[in-house]
Amino acid sequence: MRLVLLGAPGGGKGTQAAQLKDELNVPHISTGDLLRGAVQAGTPLGLKAKAVMEAGDLVSDDLVLGILEDRLAEDDASNGFILDGFPRNLVQCEMLDGLLTRIEQPIDVAVNIVVPEEVIVERIASRAQQEGRADDNEETVRNRLKVYREQTAPVVDYYGERDLVHTVDGLGTIDEVFDRIMGALKG
Ligand code: AP5
Ligand code: MG
Repeated sequence: MRLVLLGAPGGGKGTQAAQLKDELNVPHISTGDLLRGAVQAGTPLGLKAKAVMEAGDLVSDDLVLGILEDRLAEDDASNGFILDGFPRNLVQCEMLDGLLTRIEQPIDVAVNIVVPEEVIVERIASRAQQEGRADDNEETVRNRLKVYREQTAPVVDYYGERDLVHTVDGLGTIDEVFDRIMGALKG
């Protein structure tokens, strides 16, 4: 299965993907994780991305498409994948469609996990204490939410127009949300 997980920052995409990958037996591909890895490793890409991520803005489309393309070329992605954090604007939607058409692996379904902003802010604040992610401070979170509203929310409509989106309530326990997503995928 080729699945795109949509939803605001802190909405639970990474958390759900960690369980879905075992259930669906496909890799979890998070562009945020790939970029954080590049920052950590100090690669040229990481050096370019670091300040942009710390500000909560989007890294350039070409850079992100490049790492995604490399990741999709690995063997484990040949039977499907869960995309988390990509596409994040309408240009990336078009780029992804172009790439997946070329490799004859179109998206099957998108799941939009919906969580109110006040809950997101609480969840990210508690992760900030546990993990210390560089972009989990209050100011950057505010900008990440703004970027989401302005640039990423239209991605939901992009897949909606193609009849590919299931909307799932992201409130409740991790297992409850997981069951809702599996219900949507089976239904
Ligand atoms: P990215 O890593 O994608 O971050 P994000 O979209 O801001 O999302 P998060 O990872 O914060 O949230 P999530 O939805 O995965 O939620 P999680 O499961 O962690 O991107 C980071 C940056 O990289 C971007 O700002 C940008 O600069 C760059 N970037 C990445 N992709 C890009 C792209 N395509 N183009 C350009 N730039 C790009 O959950 C959050 C917290 O809530 C966790 O602590 C979790 O334990 C908790 N939680 C989860 N579910 C529940 C629940 N049901 N109940 C209670 N707590 C819960
Ligand atoms: Mg994440």
